Amino acid sequence: MTTDAVEPNRRDFLVVAGNAFAAVGAASLLWPFIQQMNPDASTKALSSVDVDLSPVKEGQAITVLWRGKPIFIRNRTKTEVEAAVNVDVKTLPDSLARNEALPADDPATDANRTVKGHENWIVLVGICTHLGCIPKGQAMGDERGEYGGWFCPCHGSVYDTSGRIRKGPAPRNLDVPPYTFSADTKIKIG
Ligand code: FES
Repeated sequence: MTTDAVEPNRRDFLVVAGNAFAAVGAASLLWPFIQQMNPDASTKALSSVDVDLSPVKEGQAITVLWRGKPIFIRNRTKTEVEAAVNVDVKTLPDSLARNEALPADDPATDANRTVKGHENWIVLVGICTHLGCIPKGQAMGDERGEYGGWFCPCHGSVYDTSGRIRKGPAPRNLDVPPYTFSADTKIKIG
């Protein structure tokens, strides 16, 4: 993998495979490369991934690969958390939490999509629920849409800072994968 084509903001965007950090380009550039490698036995075999969050400063995001899927992890600012919390779930296009750790009918509050005591962290499967594109919003300077979360350029779906669909054709919120905090700045996904 080369880093020659990395965008100027590369220091703000890290992709992690397992515990190994590697600076690479934007997810939209990376994903076709990852897909070329599928199916990859070593990737499929990673049923769980440990991620060190300590390098991810407030406002930054990283993408890790888990079971062949990009997982978005963002260290949200207080403003981003407040924006996510202060939403009436009844107004959302998809009112369900979509959190694998919770019952299927739990509502899409921000609390139901984060871990108590670690509410600044949002962890999402980074695949648009419309037709599977990789939304923008991980790299600094990416378009994030009017709700400050993620924007899918394929057909214009807009997700908020909790990864909930707010506008556009995507029918569902971004999924929250199963994960636990093994330490204050360490998570195990899967
Ligand atoms: S795939 Fe994201 S809006 Fe269509």
